[in-house]
Amino acid sequence: MKSIPRKHAEPGQIVAQKILNSDGVLLAEKGTEISEKLLRLLEQQNIETLVIEERERKKIFLVDDNMTNLTTGKAMLNEQYKVYPVPSADIMFNLLENIIPNMILLDIDMPDMNGYEAIKRLKSEPQWEEIPVIFLTSKTDEGSELEGLSLGAIDYVAKPFSAPLLLKRIENHLITERQKQQLKEFNTSLEEMVRRKTAQVFNLQNAVLSTVADLVEFRDDVTGGHISRTQKFLKLLLDKLVEEKIYSDEMSNWDMDYLLPSAQLHDVGKIAISDLILNKPGKLTDEEFNIMKTHVTIGVAAIKKIEQNAEEHAFLRHARLIAGTHHEKWDGSGYPSGLSGKDIPLEGRLMAIADVYDALISVRPYKKAFSTQEARQIIEKGKGTHFDPVLVDVFSKVADKFAAVARDL
Ligand SMILES: [Fe+2]
Repeated sequence: MKSIPRKHAEPGQIVAQKILNSDGVLLAEKGTEISEKLLRLLEQQNIETLVIEERERKKIFLVDDNMTNLTTGKAMLNEQYKVYPVPSADIMFNLLENIIPNMILLDIDMPDMNGYEAIKRLKSEPQWEEIPVIFLTSKTDEGSELEGLSLGAIDYVAKPFSAPLLLKRIENHLITERQKQQLKEFNTSLEEMVRRKTAQVFNLQNAVLSTVADLVEFRDDVTGGHISRTQKFLKLLLDKLVEEKIYSDEMSNWDMDYLLPSAQLHDVGKIAISDLILNKPGKLTDEEFNIMKTHVTIGVAAIKKIEQNAEEHAFLRHARLIAGTHHEKWDGSGYPSGLSGKDIPLEGRLMAIADVYDALISVRPYKKAFSTQEARQIIEKGKGTHFDPVLVDVFSKVADKFAAVARDL
Protein backbone atom coordinates (compact mmCIF):
# COMPACT_ATOMS: atom_id res chain seq x y z
CA MET A 1 0.00 0.00 0.00
CA LYS A 2 1.14 3.51 -0.62
CA SER A 3 -0.35 6.95 -0.25
CA ILE A 4 -0.21 9.01 -3.43
CA PRO A 5 -1.53 12.41 -4.58
CA ARG A 6 -4.79 12.03 -6.47
CA LYS A 7 -3.18 13.67 -9.48
CA HIS A 8 -0.75 10.76 -9.77
CA ALA A 9 -3.41 8.11 -9.51
CA GLU A 10 -3.99 6.11 -12.69
CA PRO A 11 -6.96 4.13 -13.95
CA GLY A 12 -6.57 0.45 -13.19
CA GLN A 13 -4.95 0.96 -9.80
CA ILE A 14 -6.76 -0.47 -6.79
CA VAL A 15 -7.96 1.58 -3.82
CA ALA A 16 -6.49 0.05 -0.66
CA GLN A 17 -8.56 2.02 1.86
CA LYS A 18 -12.14 3.23 1.54
CA ILE A 19 -12.46 6.90 0.52
CA LEU A 20 -14.94 9.17 2.33
CA ASN A 21 -15.68 12.81 1.55
CA SER A 22 -15.66 15.52 4.27
CA ASP A 23 -19.28 14.69 5.13
CA GLY A 24 -18.41 11.03 5.67
CA VAL A 25 -20.07 9.92 2.44
CA LEU A 26 -18.46 6.81 0.95
CA LEU A 27 -16.92 7.58 -2.47
CA ALA A 28 -15.06 4.31 -3.06
CA GLU A 29 -14.84 0.98 -1.26
CA LYS A 30 -11.54 -0.69 -0.46
CA GLY A 31 -10.61 -2.84 -3.47
CA THR A 32 -12.32 -0.56 -6.02
CA GLU A 33 -10.48 -0.20 -9.28
CA ILE A 34 -9.77 3.43 -10.07
CA SER A 35 -11.55 4.65 -13.20
CA GLU A 36 -11.52 8.01 -15.01
CA LYS A 37 -15.00 8.58 -13.56
CA LEU A 38 -13.81 7.98 -10.01
CA LEU A 39 -10.86 10.32 -10.52
CA ARG A 40 -13.25 13.07 -11.65
CA LEU A 41 -15.45 12.45 -8.64
CA LEU A 42 -12.47 12.69 -6.30
CA GLU A 43 -11.46 15.94 -7.93
CA GLN A 44 -14.94 17.39 -7.48
CA GLN A 45 -14.89 16.36 -3.84
CA ASN A 46 -11.42 17.88 -3.29
CA ILE A 47 -9.87 14.57 -2.25
CA GLU A 48 -6.17 15.26 -2.64
CA THR A 49 -4.59 11.96 -1.58
CA LEU A 50 -5.59 8.35 -1.66
CA VAL A 51 -4.08 5.01 -0.63
CA ILE A 52 -3.64 2.47 -3.36
CA GLU A 53 -2.45 -1.11 -3.57
CA GLU A 54 0.99 -1.36 -5.01
CA ARG A 55 -0.11 -3.56 -7.85
CA GLU A 56 1.34 -3.05 -11.24
CA ARG A 57 -1.01 -2.84 -14.14
CA LYS A 58 -0.43 -5.46 -16.79
CA LYS A 59 1.75 -4.23 -19.61
CA ILE A 60 0.59 -4.53 -23.19
CA PHE A 61 2.60 -3.75 -26.31
CA LEU A 62 0.39 -2.47 -29.10
CA VAL A 63 2.41 -2.89 -32.28
CA ASP A 64 1.03 -1.22 -35.42
CA ASP A 65 2.55 0.97 -38.12
CA ASN A 66 -0.67 2.98 -38.35
CA MET A 67 -0.56 5.96 -35.94
CA THR A 68 -4.34 6.28 -35.79
CA ASN A 69 -4.64 2.64 -34.74
CA LEU A 70 -2.01 3.20 -32.06
CA THR A 71 -3.79 6.26 -30.67
CA THR A 72 -7.26 4.74 -30.64
CA GLY A 73 -5.97 1.40 -29.37
CA LYS A 74 -4.13 3.04 -26.51
CA ALA A 75 -7.18 5.13 -25.58
CA MET A 76 -9.27 1.99 -25.56
CA LEU A 77 -6.95 -0.09 -23.40
CA ASN A 78 -5.37 2.57 -21.23
CA GLU A 79 -7.99 2.46 -18.54
CA GLN A 80 -7.13 -1.11 -17.57
CA TYR A 81 -3.61 -1.69 -18.83
CA LYS A 82 -0.30 0.03 -19.14
CA VAL A 83 -0.14 0.35 -22.91
CA TYR A 84 3.05 0.84 -24.93
CA PRO A 85 2.24 2.06 -28.45
CA VAL A 86 4.96 0.62 -30.71
CA PRO A 87 5.12 1.75 -34.38
CA SER A 88 7.21 -1.13 -35.78
CA ALA A 89 8.43 -4.67 -35.04
CA ASP A 90 12.05 -3.46 -34.91
CA ILE A 91 11.19 -0.96 -32.18
CA MET A 92 9.28 -3.70 -30.37
CA PHE A 93 12.41 -5.86 -30.22
CA ASN A 94 14.42 -2.90 -28.92
CA LEU A 95 11.83 -2.34 -26.19
CA LEU A 96 11.79 -6.03 -25.32
CA GLU A 97 15.40 -5.78 -24.25
CA ASN A 98 14.20 -3.79 -21.21
CA ILE A 99 10.50 -4.54 -20.77
CA ILE A 100 8.74 -7.90 -20.89
CA PRO A 101 5.03 -7.22 -21.45
CA ASN A 102 2.20 -9.47 -20.34
CA MET A 103 0.84 -9.48 -23.87
CA ILE A 104 1.60 -8.24 -27.37
CA LEU A 105 -1.12 -7.08 -29.75
CA LEU A 106 0.55 -7.41 -33.12
CA ASP A 107 -0.43 -6.04 -36.51
CA ILE A 108 0.39 -8.27 -39.50
CA ASP A 109 0.85 -5.86 -42.42
CA MET A 110 3.80 -3.70 -41.50
CA PRO A 111 6.72 -2.47 -43.59
CA ASP A 112 10.17 -4.00 -42.95
CA MET A 113 9.35 -6.83 -40.56
CA ASN A 114 5.74 -7.99 -40.77
CA GLY A 115 3.76 -9.61 -37.95
CA TYR A 116 4.43 -13.19 -39.08
CA GLU A 117 8.18 -12.61 -39.13
CA ALA A 118 7.99 -10.85 -35.77
CA ILE A 119 6.13 -13.73 -34.06
CA LYS A 120 8.57 -16.27 -35.51
CA ARG A 121 11.43 -14.38 -33.90
CA LEU A 122 9.53 -14.00 -30.64
CA LYS A 123 8.85 -17.72 -30.46
CA SER A 124 12.45 -18.60 -31.22
CA GLU A 125 13.89 -16.69 -28.27
CA PRO A 126 13.51 -18.40 -24.86
CA GLN A 127 13.14 -15.10 -23.00
CA TRP A 128 10.21 -14.04 -25.23
CA GLU A 129 8.57 -17.26 -26.36
CA GLU A 130 6.09 -17.30 -23.47
CA ILE A 131 4.70 -13.81 -24.14
CA PRO A 132 1.14 -14.27 -25.44
CA VAL A 133 0.58 -12.68 -28.84
CA ILE A 134 -2.76 -11.67 -30.33
CA PHE A 135 -2.85 -10.65 -33.97
CA LEU A 136 -4.89 -7.54 -34.68
CA THR A 137 -5.36 -7.32 -38.39
CA SER A 138 -7.51 -6.38 -41.32
CA LYS A 139 -6.60 -9.67 -43.01
CA THR A 140 -9.80 -11.57 -42.47
CA ASP A 141 -9.34 -14.60 -44.75
CA GLU A 142 -9.21 -18.05 -43.21
CA GLY A 143 -5.67 -18.75 -44.50
CA SER A 144 -4.16 -15.71 -42.80
CA GLU A 145 -5.93 -16.51 -39.56
CA LEU A 146 -4.75 -20.12 -39.71
CA GLU A 147 -1.19 -19.03 -40.42
CA GLY A 148 -1.25 -16.57 -37.52
CA LEU A 149 -2.52 -19.18 -35.10
CA SER A 150 -0.16 -21.88 -36.31
CA LEU A 151 2.79 -19.55 -35.75
CA GLY A 152 1.91 -19.52 -32.06
CA ALA A 153 -0.53 -16.60 -31.64
CA ILE A 154 -3.15 -17.26 -28.98
CA ASP A 155 -5.85 -15.33 -30.82
CA TYR A 156 -6.60 -13.54 -34.04
CA VAL A 157 -8.83 -10.46 -34.00
CA ALA A 158 -10.03 -8.83 -37.19
CA LYS A 159 -10.07 -5.05 -37.52
CA PRO A 160 -12.24 -3.09 -37.07
CA PHE A 161 -12.95 -4.69 -33.71
CA SER A 162 -15.45 -3.99 -31.00
CA ALA A 163 -13.69 -2.44 -28.00
CA PRO A 164 -15.64 -4.30 -25.27
CA LEU A 165 -15.12 -7.59 -27.11
CA LEU A 166 -11.38 -7.03 -27.49
CA LEU A 167 -11.06 -6.04 -23.83
CA LYS A 168 -12.93 -9.16 -22.77
CA ARG A 169 -10.76 -11.36 -24.95
CA ILE A 170 -7.58 -9.78 -23.58
CA GLU A 171 -8.84 -10.23 -20.04
CA ASN A 172 -9.70 -13.90 -20.67
CA HIS A 173 -6.33 -14.61 -22.25
CA LEU A 174 -4.50 -12.93 -19.38
CA ILE A 175 -6.46 -15.03 -16.90
CA THR A 176 -5.56 -18.17 -18.86
CA GLU A 177 -1.91 -17.12 -18.98
CA ARG A 178 -1.88 -16.52 -15.24
CA GLN A 179 -3.41 -19.93 -14.64
CA LYS A 180 -0.83 -21.50 -16.95
CA GLN A 181 1.91 -19.73 -15.02
CA GLN A 182 0.47 -20.86 -11.69
CA LEU A 183 0.26 -24.43 -12.96
CA LYS A 184 3.84 -24.25 -14.14
CA GLU A 185 5.00 -22.93 -10.77
CA PHE A 186 2.98 -25.63 -9.03
CA ASN A 187 4.54 -28.32 -11.23
CA THR A 188 8.01 -26.96 -10.61
CA SER A 189 7.53 -27.00 -6.86
CA LEU A 190 5.99 -30.46 -7.10
CA GLU A 191 8.97 -31.71 -9.11
CA GLU A 192 11.30 -30.13 -6.59
CA MET A 193 9.42 -31.81 -3.75
CA VAL A 194 9.52 -35.21 -5.48
CA ARG A 195 13.23 -34.73 -6.21
CA ARG A 196 13.89 -33.89 -2.55
CA LYS A 197 11.85 -36.81 -1.26
CA THR A 198 13.51 -39.20 -3.71
CA ALA A 199 16.92 -38.00 -2.57
CA GLN A 200 15.87 -38.52 1.05
CA VAL A 201 14.74 -42.09 0.35
CA PHE A 202 17.90 -42.73 -1.65
CA ASN A 203 20.11 -41.41 1.15
CA LEU A 204 18.22 -43.36 3.78
CA GLN A 205 18.50 -46.50 1.70
CA ASN A 206 22.22 -45.97 1.28
CA ALA A 207 22.68 -45.33 4.98
CA VAL A 208 20.85 -48.54 5.91
CA LEU A 209 22.76 -50.40 3.29
CA SER A 210 26.15 -49.12 4.36
CA THR A 211 25.34 -50.14 7.90
CA VAL A 212 24.45 -53.67 6.81
CA ALA A 213 27.61 -53.80 4.69
CA ASP A 214 29.66 -52.48 7.61
CA LEU A 215 28.23 -55.18 9.84
CA VAL A 216 29.34 -57.84 7.39
CA GLU A 217 32.74 -56.27 7.04
CA PHE A 218 33.08 -55.88 10.79
CA ARG A 219 32.67 -59.65 11.24
CA ASP A 220 35.08 -60.36 8.44
CA ASP A 221 37.72 -58.22 10.11
CA VAL A 222 40.56 -59.30 7.84
CA THR A 223 39.20 -57.44 4.87
CA GLY A 224 38.81 -53.90 6.24
CA GLY A 225 37.90 -51.36 3.58
CA HIS A 226 37.06 -54.11 1.07
CA ILE A 227 33.54 -52.89 0.43
CA SER A 228 34.42 -49.27 -0.22
CA ARG A 229 37.43 -50.19 -2.37
CA THR A 230 35.53 -52.69 -4.51
CA GLN A 231 32.97 -49.96 -5.22
CA LYS A 232 35.78 -47.68 -6.38
CA PHE A 233 37.25 -50.42 -8.60
CA LEU A 234 33.82 -51.10 -10.02
CA LYS A 235 33.34 -47.44 -10.81
CA LEU A 236 36.69 -47.28 -12.63
CA LEU A 237 35.63 -50.19 -14.84
CA LEU A 238 32.16 -48.79 -15.42
CA ASP A 239 33.43 -45.33 -16.35
CA LYS A 240 35.80 -46.85 -18.89
CA LEU A 241 33.05 -49.04 -20.35
CA VAL A 242 30.80 -46.01 -20.77
CA GLU A 243 33.64 -43.92 -22.21
CA GLU A 244 34.56 -46.57 -24.78
CA LYS A 245 30.94 -47.56 -25.42
CA ILE A 246 31.65 -51.21 -24.59
CA TYR A 247 28.72 -53.42 -23.61
CA SER A 248 26.42 -50.42 -24.11
CA ASP A 249 23.48 -52.70 -24.96
CA GLU A 250 23.79 -54.68 -21.73
CA MET A 251 24.11 -51.48 -19.76
CA SER A 252 21.35 -49.55 -21.54
CA ASN A 253 18.75 -50.44 -18.91
CA TRP A 254 21.09 -50.07 -15.95
CA ASP A 255 20.50 -47.48 -13.33
CA MET A 256 24.01 -46.28 -12.50
CA ASP A 257 22.80 -44.43 -9.40
CA TYR A 258 21.85 -47.78 -7.94
CA LEU A 259 24.48 -50.09 -9.33
CA LEU A 260 27.43 -48.94 -7.24
CA PRO A 261 25.60 -48.78 -3.89
CA SER A 262 24.04 -52.17 -4.61
CA ALA A 263 27.53 -53.67 -4.95
CA GLN A 264 27.99 -53.12 -1.23
CA LEU A 265 25.76 -56.15 -0.66
CA HIS A 266 27.88 -58.57 -2.70
CA ASP A 267 29.08 -60.47 0.36
CA VAL A 268 26.03 -59.90 2.56
CA GLY A 269 25.62 -63.68 2.89
CA LYS A 270 28.87 -63.81 4.90
CA ILE A 271 26.80 -62.67 7.85
CA ALA A 272 25.67 -66.31 8.19
CA ILE A 273 29.18 -67.80 7.96
CA SER A 274 30.84 -68.87 11.18
CA ASP A 275 33.60 -66.66 12.57
CA LEU A 276 35.80 -69.73 12.75
CA ILE A 277 35.72 -70.06 8.98
CA LEU A 278 35.52 -66.37 8.16
CA ASN A 279 38.56 -65.48 10.22
CA LYS A 280 40.46 -68.75 10.11
CA PRO A 281 44.18 -68.08 10.08
CA GLY A 282 45.31 -70.33 7.27
CA LYS A 283 43.85 -72.07 4.27
CA LEU A 284 40.31 -73.43 4.48
CA THR A 285 39.70 -77.18 4.23
CA ASP A 286 37.47 -78.34 1.35
CA GLU A 287 34.58 -78.69 3.74
CA GLU A 288 35.14 -75.21 5.14
CA PHE A 289 35.46 -73.77 1.65
CA ASN A 290 32.15 -75.38 0.70
CA ILE A 291 30.55 -73.66 3.66
CA MET A 292 32.23 -70.39 2.71
CA LYS A 293 30.78 -70.71 -0.81
CA THR A 294 27.27 -70.69 0.63
CA HIS A 295 27.65 -66.96 1.34
CA VAL A 296 26.52 -66.48 -2.28
CA THR A 297 23.28 -68.41 -2.05
CA ILE A 298 22.56 -67.06 1.41
CA GLY A 299 23.10 -63.50 0.14
CA VAL A 300 20.82 -64.06 -2.86
CA ALA A 301 18.13 -65.57 -0.64
CA ALA A 302 18.29 -62.55 1.69
CA ILE A 303 17.98 -60.08 -1.20
CA LYS A 304 15.15 -62.11 -2.77
CA LYS A 305 13.31 -61.91 0.51
CA ILE A 306 13.52 -58.11 0.40
CA GLU A 307 12.36 -58.20 -3.23
CA GLN A 308 9.27 -60.17 -2.25
CA ASN A 309 8.30 -57.43 0.15
CA ALA A 310 9.21 -54.51 -2.10
CA GLU A 311 8.30 -53.33 -5.56
CA GLU A 312 10.52 -54.35 -8.46
CA HIS A 313 13.54 -52.17 -8.01
CA ALA A 314 16.73 -51.67 -10.04
CA PHE A 315 18.73 -51.46 -6.85
CA LEU A 316 17.67 -54.90 -5.62
CA ARG A 317 17.99 -56.47 -9.07
CA HIS A 318 21.59 -55.25 -9.38
CA ALA A 319 22.34 -56.32 -5.81
CA ARG A 320 20.96 -59.84 -6.38
CA LEU A 321 22.89 -60.33 -9.62
CA ILE A 322 26.16 -59.06 -8.13
CA ALA A 323 25.83 -61.11 -4.95
CA GLY A 324 24.76 -64.19 -6.88
CA THR A 325 27.34 -64.25 -9.66
CA HIS A 326 30.52 -62.54 -8.48
CA HIS A 327 32.22 -65.92 -7.94
CA GLU A 328 31.27 -67.34 -11.34
CA LYS A 329 34.16 -67.73 -13.80
CA TRP A 330 34.24 -67.09 -17.54
CA ASP A 331 35.27 -70.72 -18.27
CA GLY A 332 32.42 -72.14 -16.18
CA SER A 333 34.57 -73.31 -13.24
CA GLY A 334 33.16 -70.83 -10.71
CA TYR A 335 30.34 -71.14 -8.19
CA PRO A 336 27.51 -71.46 -7.27
CA SER A 337 26.01 -72.26 -10.70
CA GLY A 338 29.04 -72.89 -12.92
CA LEU A 339 27.79 -70.32 -15.43
CA SER A 340 30.17 -69.48 -18.26
CA GLY A 341 30.83 -66.64 -20.73
CA LYS A 342 28.07 -64.16 -21.23
CA ASP A 343 25.61 -66.37 -19.34
CA ILE A 344 27.18 -64.70 -16.31
CA PRO A 345 25.44 -61.34 -15.91
CA LEU A 346 27.71 -58.40 -16.70
CA GLU A 347 27.28 -57.15 -13.13
CA GLY A 348 28.85 -60.37 -11.82
CA ARG A 349 31.66 -60.36 -14.41
CA LEU A 350 32.59 -56.82 -13.39
CA MET A 351 32.40 -57.54 -9.68
CA ALA A 352 34.63 -60.59 -10.11
CA ILE A 353 37.51 -58.38 -11.26
CA ALA A 354 36.95 -55.75 -8.56
CA ASP A 355 36.57 -58.41 -5.85
CA VAL A 356 39.58 -60.55 -6.81
CA TYR A 357 41.85 -57.53 -7.34
CA ASP A 358 41.02 -56.29 -3.87
CA ALA A 359 41.58 -59.74 -2.34
CA LEU A 360 44.98 -59.88 -4.05
CA ILE A 361 46.23 -56.54 -2.76
CA SER A 362 44.96 -57.26 0.79
CA VAL A 363 46.54 -59.29 3.53
CA ARG A 364 44.51 -62.40 4.28
CA PRO A 365 45.10 -64.92 7.07
CA TYR A 366 46.36 -67.38 4.50
CA LYS A 367 48.38 -65.02 2.28
CA LYS A 368 50.45 -61.89 2.12
CA ALA A 369 49.36 -58.82 0.15
CA PHE A 370 50.42 -58.87 -3.48
CA SER A 371 51.84 -55.72 -5.04
CA THR A 372 49.57 -53.84 -7.44
CA GLN A 373 51.84 -54.95 -10.29
CA GLU A 374 51.49 -58.61 -9.27
CA ALA A 375 47.74 -58.20 -8.83
CA ARG A 376 47.49 -56.72 -12.31
CA GLN A 377 49.42 -59.63 -13.80
CA ILE A 378 47.22 -62.18 -12.04
CA ILE A 379 44.04 -60.52 -13.33
CA GLU A 380 45.46 -60.33 -16.84
CA LYS A 381 46.52 -63.99 -16.62
CA GLY A 382 42.90 -64.85 -15.80
CA LYS A 383 41.70 -63.32 -19.08
CA GLY A 384 39.33 -65.73 -20.78
CA THR A 385 39.53 -68.31 -17.97
CA HIS A 386 38.51 -66.63 -14.74
CA PHE A 387 37.48 -63.28 -16.22
CA ASP A 388 35.64 -61.86 -19.22
CA PRO A 389 38.46 -61.14 -21.74
CA VAL A 390 36.85 -57.87 -22.88
CA LEU A 391 36.65 -56.65 -19.29
CA VAL A 392 40.26 -57.62 -18.61
CA ASP A 393 41.31 -55.40 -21.53
CA VAL A 394 39.26 -52.61 -20.00
CA PHE A 395 40.88 -53.31 -16.63
CA SER A 396 44.37 -53.04 -18.16
CA LYS A 397 43.53 -49.57 -19.41
CA VAL A 398 42.62 -48.39 -15.91
CA ALA A 399 45.07 -50.56 -13.94
CA ASP A 400 47.08 -47.50 -12.89
CA LYS A 401 43.96 -46.01 -11.35
CA PHE A 402 43.30 -49.32 -9.55
CA ALA A 403 46.83 -49.08 -8.17
CA ALA A 404 46.19 -45.51 -6.98
CA VAL A 405 43.11 -46.67 -5.04
CA ALA A 406 45.12 -49.56 -3.64
CA ARG A 407 47.85 -47.19 -2.40
CA ASP A 408 45.27 -45.49 -0.16
CA LEU A 409 44.79 -48.83 1.60
FE1 LIG B 1 32.10 -63.07 -2.16
